[in-house]
Amino acid sequence: MQIDYIAEKKLFVLATPNSTYAMAINGQGALGHVYWGKRVSRAADLFEPPPGFGGVSQQEYPGWGEYFFDEPALKIAFHDGTRDVRLRYASHDTVSHRESRELRILLKDSFYPLSVTLVYRLHPDCDVIDRHAVVTNEGADPMTIESVQSAAWYPPRDNTYRLSYQTGRWGKEYRPQEWTMGQGRAVLDTRRGTSGPDFTPFFWLDVNGKADEDNGQIWFGALHWSGNWKITIERNRDNQTRITGGVNDFDFSWVLRTRESFTTPVFSGAFTDAGFGAASRIWHDYQRAYLFRKEKANGLMPLIYNSWGTFQFDIDEKRMVQLAELAAGIGVELFVIDDGWFGRRINDKCSLGDWYPSPDRFPNGLNPLIDKVNSLGMDFGLWLEPEMVSPDSDLYRAHPDWVFRFQNRDCSQYRHQLVLNLARDDVKEFAFNTMHNLLRNHNIKYFKLDNNRYISEPGWACVDIPDQKSVWVKYYHNFYDIFERLTKAFPNVLFENCASGGGRVDFAMHRYFDRINRSDNQDPLDELFLHEGFTQANLPKLAGGGCHISKGMCGINGRSTPMRFQAHVGMLGSLAIGENLFQCNPAQLDELKGYAALYKEIRPVTHRGDFYRLISPREQPLAAFEYVSKDQNDAVLFVLGQSMQFRDVLPNIRLKGLRPETVYEVEGGKRMSGAGLMHIGIPVPLRGDFDSRVIRIRAVPEA
Ligand code: DGJ
Repeated sequence: MQIDYIAEKKLFVLATPNSTYAMAINGQGALGHVYWGKRVSRAADLFEPPPGFGGVSQQEYPGWGEYFFDEPALKIAFHDGTRDVRLRYASHDTVSHRESRELRILLKDSFYPLSVTLVYRLHPDCDVIDRHAVVTNEGADPMTIESVQSAAWYPPRDNTYRLSYQTGRWGKEYRPQEWTMGQGRAVLDTRRGTSGPDFTPFFWLDVNGKADEDNGQIWFGALHWSGNWKITIERNRDNQTRITGGVNDFDFSWVLRTRESFTTPVFSGAFTDAGFGAASRIWHDYQRAYLFRKEKANGLMPLIYNSWGTFQFDIDEKRMVQLAELAAGIGVELFVIDDGWFGRRINDKCSLGDWYPSPDRFPNGLNPLIDKVNSLGMDFGLWLEPEMVSPDSDLYRAHPDWVFRFQNRDCSQYRHQLVLNLARDDVKEFAFNTMHNLLRNHNIKYFKLDNNRYISEPGWACVDIPDQKSVWVKYYHNFYDIFERLTKAFPNVLFENCASGGGRVDFAMHRYFDRINRSDNQDPLDELFLHEGFTQANLPKLAGGGCHISKGMCGINGRSTPMRFQAHVGMLGSLAIGENLFQCNPAQLDELKGYAALYKEIRPVTHRGDFYRLISPREQPLAAFEYVSKDQNDAVLFVLGQSMQFRDVLPNIRLKGLRPETVYEVEGGKRMSGAGLMHIGIPVPLRGDFDSRVIRIRAVPEA
């Protein structure tokens, strides 16, 4: 990573291992974009500015004003009614952090006391550039921010790009979509108060749609924001493509008073010339090295039992103790009690907010169960939904003013619950203290955060009217503050991110959460498609939820699948069991024990290795995924059939990421070189519906 400033050309050059990013100060003194793409080491090649560089439309951080008509990064109403932002270069410096370097460029408005610091952060051995902006009111009069984006990105102009993005809904998250960009503007966003699942805060652009898993240039990015966000991808009349993203400006405004600053979320961008597979691995490595909590980054995910799949609200101390004994017998490492343990919660109609153990079901509190779970050699995990309240709860009766509500209006209920206004500091402290006390007073090693409705009617009566539209952002400032403090206070606790499955999956959540209930859809066939989409940006070991051995009949679509197929699909991520162990016969318990052992054997590779999507379930009647250890000595191949009709025409499975000259032994005894495995491949016979194989491949000394 390198940051250079070539003073005579007023040119900034950022170098990552495989890419170059350049910008320069133009004739008007504004900061214009010069280049982002494959590495160009000779700085002189960047001296000739590209077409459009001198104008307003290619600014690194375009304000809305002057002769600019595209998506702005900043839109401000000054106190005197002027709505015209003109940012000019003022100064810059570089800052070294323990693991990264930062370029900070200060821009100032040409008249008003407004400054913007653009921050570009580079990390060692990493092609990701993290950008954000800090907007400051340096004067005495307030100014109102109407839109404040994190960054604008420019891939080289005049190309026709294919935009790849993801859409979804509950139970059907991370679905790939694409748009071949003509002149026009696409907006990906959310107004639901959570980052998903309708769209995910990621984009990928490749030229003419020619990139595939292994080849092709891709410019891609991710927004680190868990609330309302917006990414605008546009190609203007001059064939300039621009991606602008940040906090959603819909129903947003922020009054910046004297000396106050607004810091945007980070918007990361990266470039590769090695296809979508490489783009995914860049994100995966970046998460491990620079996003996850250090103490958890390389940890192995435990084998989990979760009560929800089978028992839902029907849980009590006695039955859970019996269940824990069975779970321990098959090799479970973490026993999680889901919804239903608190207040009077016997269905979803009451008690959210009353976070004390149910006097009827856990009359002695949670500790007797936790002690039992611990004595069986397992850790204990607990579910909570602290952002919510049931109207039928002691909390709501005590604090009806804590929920979002507009004056003179009812508020809509969904799943019989209302949303607490976490932007209020008293609500924030309540949520923090609830979780902190539970963690402090119990030996809880796993915390499943849930969130089962969106934010609607975001009325916030107790603040001044001009400040009310800041609520979407203040909510998340407080949310992050809670988890910043909790993860610091309890570094050994694993935190699970769940929002009705994958409703809030983004890079800001990854800073605090170690696992994701990525979908409530536990059908393993649907899971093949989820895994393909989810892994585009997210490390496979984060994947819980669908990675589940549960009842043969999947609640979402009624499909029956064999336990073996569920187990193999579950091992693609962080495996959990939700099967009704009381109804399993000894043979089934033994079968589960076998899967538990296999999962533990392969997870050092599946959780710490590099990930390859070999065959898409969208193209073949099977999916194939491969994990390769970082030293390239071990690989695990998953071949997962959907419906096999013509066994003899199944494709050979060609592996990836191996050392060509090394000889490997494929489980079963066959030996081949890495080159042979990668170019010739191996046949993997599958029969009928839902047949599957998990195959270990190990480097061996050549005989
Ligand atoms: C939705 C989650 O996605 C499920 O896993 C489960 O925790 C339920 N909520 C509990 O209400």
